[in-house]
Formats: sequence, C-alpha cells, structure tokens
Amino acid sequence: MADGENNASNNSASSSSPPGSPGSDLNRTLSHDESDPNSTSPPTTETETGIEALARRVQESLSMSKRHKFWETQPVGQFKDLGDSSLPEGPIEEPTPLSEVKQDPYNLPAQYEWSTCDMEDGPTCNEVYALLAQNYVEDDENMFRFNYSTNFLRWALRPPAYFKSWHIGVRVKASKKLVAFITGVPARIRVRNEVVKMAEINFLCVHKKLRSKRLAPVMIKEVTRRVHLENIWQAAYTAGVVLPTPVTTCRYWHRSLNPKKLIDVGFSRLGPRMTMSRTIRLYKLPGSTVTPGFRKMELRDVPAVTRLLRGYLGQFAVAPDFDEADVEHWLLPREDVVDSYLVESPETHEITDFCSFYSLPSSILNNANYSVLKAAYSYYNVSTKTPLLQLMNDALIVAKQKGFDVFNALDVMHNEGFLKELKFGPGDGQLHYYLYNYRLRNPLKPSELGLVLL
Ligand SMILES: CC(C)(COP(=O)(O)OP(=O)(O)OC[C@H]1O[C@@H](n2cnc3c(N)ncnc32)[C@H](O)[C@@H]1OP(=O)(O)O)[C@@H](O)C(=O)NCCC(=O)NCCS
Repeated sequence: MADGENNASNNSASSSSPPGSPGSDLNRTLSHDESDPNSTSPPTTETETGIEALARRVQESLSMSKRHKFWETQPVGQFKDLGDSSLPEGPIEEPTPLSEVKQDPYNLPAQYEWSTCDMEDGPTCNEVYALLAQNYVEDDENMFRFNYSTNFLRWALRPPAYFKSWHIGVRVKASKKLVAFITGVPARIRVRNEVVKMAEINFLCVHKKLRSKRLAPVMIKEVTRRVHLENIWQAAYTAGVVLPTPVTTCRYWHRSLNPKKLIDVGFSRLGPRMTMSRTIRLYKLPGSTVTPGFRKMELRDVPAVTRLLRGYLGQFAVAPDFDEADVEHWLLPREDVVDSYLVESPETHEITDFCSFYSLPSSILNNANYSVLKAAYSYYNVSTKTPLLQLMNDALIVAKQKGFDVFNALDVMHNEGFLKELKFGPGDGQLHYYLYNYRLRNPLKPSELGLVLL
C-alpha cells in the first residue's frame, strides 16, 4: 500500500475529485497542467487556489469524521487523539510474548485460501505481476494504472533478510487463481533518535470483482500476524486514502520530459496561452549532463554512498537506517528498475553527491496510440558539493535520455528546493504516510520525512 493518488484530472483548477477525496483508493498523482511555470500569468497549478484549499480542508474533515470499523480497532494514532500532546511518543502497544502470537492464519471466506508467494519462482512472480497489472492502483478517472514490472517486484520484495512468509496471496480454492495480495519487507527505520525494526507494507490489492467484501482487513491482520511472528511490532505504509492517522501528508510533483505524449494521453493539459511548440521548448533539456564527474553508481561505490546517505538522512525525523547491504540492494543500478548516479570529484575522487530514481510505468487505459507511460520517481538524493538544483537537473537529463516521459517527486526531504525551479508542476492528489503501532506526538511536515516507499 505504498501509494498515494494517481489522479488523472489535469487542470488542477477543475480537477474532478478534490485531492485526498475519500472515495479514491488511488495512487500517485499522475497529472498536472502544462502552464508555463515561469509565466507571470494568474496562478493555475503552481499554487493551490483558495477554493481548492477549502475543498481539501472540507474533504479532510469529512474523511476524519468517517467511521473506520477496522482501523479503529488497531494500534494506530486515532483521530480523536489528534492534538493530545499528553500521549507519549513511541509504541502504542507493548510486544506480546511470541508464544502468545496467534499461530494459525486468520479465516478467509470458505472459497479462498492463503498462499505464500515465492517471488523467486518465475510463474508465481508472473501471477503477481498480472494481478497487479489488472487490479492495482488507478487514477480517479481510470485513465492510468500502475504497471510494476516483474523485475521491479522481485527487487522491491527481496531486500536483505526478507521473509518469504510476508508475501501473501489469496487464491480461489477451486481454480487456484490469485485474487488478492499483500506484502511486507523488513526495514530499520529511525524515528527521531530510535532505530525501530519495522515492516514496510505494500502492494495491497484485491481483485476488482472482490472489492468491498472486507477482505482487506483480514489481509492486513494476517500480514500483521506474520510480522509479529518475526518479533517485529511496527510497520510503515503509505496510501492515497485518509486513514487514522497520517504521520505526514505529501504531494507528488511532475516534471514533463515528453510533454507532447503527456498531453496526447491526457496526463497533462496544454496550459492557457501555451502552444504545443512553446510547451515542448519550455521542457527541453540539454543533451548531456553538466556536472563534471557525474557518473553511474557502481558496486565499488557502496561504502561511500552509504556514508553520504547516512550523513544526509540523519537530519530527518523519520528515515531509513541504511547499512551497506541495504544500499547495495536498494541503490545499486538495476536496468529498468532503479538508477543511481553520483558525482566523483575529478580532483580528489571523493564521492560528493548522489541522486537516484526508480522506474514505475503506468498502463495507459483506452488510448489508441499509446499503452505505457514511462515514469521515473525520485528516490534518494544527497548534495554536499554540487548544488541540489544542478544535481537534479542532471537527473532529469539522464531520465530523458533513458526515454522516461515524466519525472515525479514527492515534496519530502529537501525536494521543495528544486521542484518549482526545475519546472515540476504539483499533482492533484496526496500521499499519506502511516506508522503502525508507533505514535508521533505531532504530524510531521513533508520536509521532515526522509523515507520513500515504493
Ligand atoms: C485497497 C483495496 C485492497 C481495499 O479493498 P476493498 O475491497 O476496497 O475494501 P474492503 O471492503 O476489503 O476493506 C475496507 C477497509 O480497508 C481499508 N482500506 C482501504 N484501502 C486501504 C489502504 N490502501 N490501506 C489500508 N487500509 C485500507 C478501509 O479503510 C476499510 O477499513 P475501515 O472500515 O477501518 O475504514 C482495494 O480497493 C484495491 O485493491 N484497490 C486498488 C489497489 C489499491 O489502491 N491498493 C492500495 C494502495 S495504498
């Protein structure tokens, strides 16, 4: 459930559903308006209008007044406790002795059975791919659907010391068809001064024909049980829907790399007073990167990148506690999955800066000319010597060279420092971050968050 909104409505002033609308189960915001970010004309997408801000606040308060029959029973921050700073930070419930953790799986409706999915097995991985490709997150207007590749899924689900038992499928007993999925992977996440062993929960998906039957709560309880069996008691996850209670709420921003295609497929819209050729010119990038010593990360760089990243992530309230094995897994380039670049000083050979993005295409539904939108998602970036703006501009240049149509970034960490200047436009959906069984006294600002979930 590492997801936000995937809203395809593109003129933010007239988006069909307000950001964070409770009805949208969706993921990343995939859309924005192609107005000239540098123009002095009245605000379009660059700043939220008064009406939009009001609509968002109304939606948020409606979401918060909704009952959550399942989530109200779980050890998560509850809406009624918002603003109660007398409650302590940290675990909401203490761990129970492992012998007291329920030993047998939760009951499913009679026609279904649990099925642990071995992601090393090609056919199983293909079944998971197909379930998600047909049933995972769509935008509000059903124009796009995430299309995580099999290689991506294998990468996302098999980090160091992963548990196969946390890759949980639900099958129809009679046909063995895979109809639902949820996963966890282990992670060490630092919350302020405390490094906490957690599960990162992701890829919650129920087949379209089985929705609204309360299958999701059973799946969440089952993954929780299996996480508990490994003596882990906390989790991190994201969603486009408002649940009790976000630790922070972020927004996706989009940088057009192939504006003509984005407009043709309805991802974005020609801005007022913009022509296609002017739009193409606006987003044009140099043919090659500008920073001396900018190159692809290699295996030999793992120690230096780990040092750089640890030094950087230390400043955020919530961030992963990466060691070298994590960096090798999560950040060493893998074709069509994750790209990482760094700056090696031509004089000292010191590694001074780092940037990375992962590749998450979306299927374009019902378009005669195009079937796939190639999207790069900003991952972890560290600048110590190269200005962040220049570093990220080089990231855009390599993403363009690799054929991506759009470069997406959340407003987490220091990303706000480059979004507007590099001509990203704000999307119209939100991504909420959650912690399970861990209370923060106050919600964080997106810039206090140092965690990107896939
Ligand atoms: C998300 C999804 C699995 C929910 O299943 P569903 O059949 O719609 O809902 P169910 O009837 O099984 O369960 C509803 C409960 O799940 C909760 N829920 C819904 N989406 C959720 C999410 N993304 N994360 C956590 N809980 C979620 C609901 O809030 C509700 O609990 P509540 O009564 O306490 O509020 C399903 O809609 C789906 O596969 N959507 C497409 C993929 C997707 O959006 N995945 C989640 C990405 S974050």
